[in-house]
Amino acid sequence: MRITGGILTTFCLLQISTAYPYFRDKIPNGHLVANPCNISEIWFGVGHKQRYGNGERNQFGLDFQRQGMQWTNDLCRMDSDEDGSTNGAELGDPNCKWVPGGVPIQSQGITHPGVCTDSSGHACKEPGFDLKCDGFQCDAATGTRKLEIRYTQMEVPTQPKTYKCQAFALPTDKDYHLIAATPHISNINHTYYYNEKLASGEVDASGLTLHFTDNLRPNDLGIFRVGLNYLLFIPPKRKRFEVSAVCGGDCMREYSNETITIIGGQSEMFYHGVSGKMYKGKTDGTSEVLFEDSEYHLDSPKLHLLDTPKTLGQGESLGVNCTYDSSSENKTLLYGIDVNSTEVCFGHILYYPKEGSIEKGCTTIGDLDQCEIRDIVAQCEHLDIVGHLNKSHPALKEIFDNCMFGRCLQECVNVSEKYSTHPCFSGSLKDFLVWTLSLPESDDDFKTIMLDFWGRLDSCKTNNGNDKHMTSISSVLPCYGHWLSVWVLVYFVFV
Ligand SMILES: *[C@@H]1O[C@H](CO)[C@@H](O)[C@H](O)[C@H]1NC(C)=O
Ligand SMILES: *[C@@H]1O[C@H](CO)[C@@H](O)[C@H](O)[C@H]1NC(C)=O
Ligand SMILES: *[C@@H]1O[C@H](CO)[C@@H](O)[C@H](O)[C@H]1NC(C)=O
Ligand SMILES: *[C@@H]1O[C@H](CO)[C@@H](O)[C@H](O)[C@H]1NC(C)=O
Ligand SMILES: *[C@@H]1O[C@H](CO)[C@@H](O)[C@H](O)[C@H]1NC(C)=O
Ligand SMILES: *[C@@H]1O[C@H](CO)[C@@H](O)[C@H](O)[C@H]1NC(C)=O
Ligand SMILES: *[C@@H]1O[C@H](CO)[C@@H](O)[C@H](O)[C@H]1NC(C)=O
Ligand SMILES: *[C@@H]1O[C@H](CO)[C@@H](O)[C@H](O)[C@H]1NC(C)=O
Repeated sequence: MRITGGILTTFCLLQISTAYPYFRDKIPNGHLVANPCNISEIWFGVGHKQRYGNGERNQFGLDFQRQGMQWTNDLCRMDSDEDGSTNGAELGDPNCKWVPGGVPIQSQGITHPGVCTDSSGHACKEPGFDLKCDGFQCDAATGTRKLEIRYTQMEVPTQPKTYKCQAFALPTDKDYHLIAATPHISNINHTYYYNEKLASGEVDASGLTLHFTDNLRPNDLGIFRVGLNYLLFIPPKRKRFEVSAVCGGDCMREYSNETITIIGGQSEMFYHGVSGKMYKGKTDGTSEVLFEDSEYHLDSPKLHLLDTPKTLGQGESLGVNCTYDSSSENKTLLYGIDVNSTEVCFGHILYYPKEGSIEKGCTTIGDLDQCEIRDIVAQCEHLDIVGHLNKSHPALKEIFDNCMFGRCLQECVNVSEKYSTHPCFSGSLKDFLVWTLSLPESDDDFKTIMLDFWGRLDSCKTNNGNDKHMTSISSVLPCYGHWLSVWVLVYFVFV
């Protein structure tokens, strides 16, 4: 079975990103808020307009955000949804005494603080927003076939994070387009098996219903990611620190040789990310923002759907900017996968038509994009495919024969000058190669040769040469699936 990304011009996006337990623990009875449409169900994303969270916030969510995402006295006394009952009264903390971790005064009949409800918890009148009671309204999905796929029920391991993989049989008799997907979350505490509290004995059997059709739409939808990997350095104690990654027009052309239409996208950073945007660079040198998160928070990611789709023409570049707040950090934040102590900078666009290409993204090393890196590396015969140096290569031999670590020899001056400006030995590629020394998997032999080499090459540079502040960067993106990606786009075509 092959799955290729896809859909079309009419589609439904039910955003199923999780309602983060983290926020629900910050308000009283955050796990017990009734769904105003059906009070025997829970409304998971209390601050959001959708039951499962993500996307637009409701008035309670906006007020919560304005209070610094804390249960404050003010927030408790407010009546965000203007239904005559304060937020505190709705959430079982009528006297505004609750503190995180504490036991609320009452835990029965918890009603929604962001949707006008009567005392029984039912939606009371025409809500101030489009309350999608059945959670899924999609005209394009009428008449489609459905297939439910669920994990076999399993016990959630007693460890913070578990990745689980299970294969499902999808129809292979002909081509289909996936129009929509709706979630089945059997245990909201453990979506993606994120068991931060190390609870034991919990089970989960979550899954999706896929809505698909053989009435093929004109286009497949693709997801394309731009960003920087590996070489991200965010200095400590900065209120705002911005990095950017741009995939150049020539490189974008390699992914698609026609104009693509962008219908939306999403930024991706970890907990220090505070704002982000994606933009296109036009051929006249100006840029146009595609979408922007002026207030980004990892626990409340927003999938942007553009009211008016935008196009990316031939020769136009695609960029992402990420801004971080490192004011609480004492040390430089590096690239990594731990959401608390490392960072990333990516942006994803949703676009059509999707090409047959299997490439899903373009990353950068400093000012070089993936295509430029590839073209430079192709000329660097002294590097083997895993970045090891080939000491018998003439260029390296010349450096090893003429230069010494720690002292500038006269015969080294010209040699060093010759190679220091060569793209294989300078700029962003050098930054990257030097950086690989810090990888835990680099063995001592590799480090010794590399250090010896760069030490010799730089031995005649005044004041230690490398004054370039390494900011952004990266390359060759092995796609790593971190849990955030899971929500993503369940719109696939089965081929
Ligand atoms: C309300 O939710 C419960 C539990 O999910 C479900 O069994 C029931 O059918 C729902 N009622 C309506 C009217 O949708
Ligand atoms: C989720 O966690 C909350 C609080 O820790 C608990 O009350 C609730 O029963 C859990 N839900 C499930 C389905 O295990
Ligand atoms: C992206 O960030 C870079 C570096 O901070 C900045 O020079 C550039 O103007 C930003 N682009 C946009 C569109 O904001
Ligand atoms: C580019 O266009 C040609 C036809 O002009 C097509 O055959 C080819 O598949 C296209 N390549 C990509 C990457 O879109
Ligand atoms: C940073 O240093 C301050 C003062 O030494 C300390 O209170 C704080 O906990 C440190 N923060 C981190 C994230 O290590
Ligand atoms: C991340 O930080 C939060 C809040 O400080 C903390 O509750 C959580 O345990 C941390 N998670 C990890 C994986 O370190
Ligand atoms: C190392 O470089 C020499 C000289 O260019 C070449 O003959 C040899 O094949 C290279 N070795 C590897 C493993 O690439
Ligand atoms: C280094 O280069 C300079 C000028 O390019 C030349 O005059 C000099 O002879 C060279 N020195 C050596 C040791 O090759």
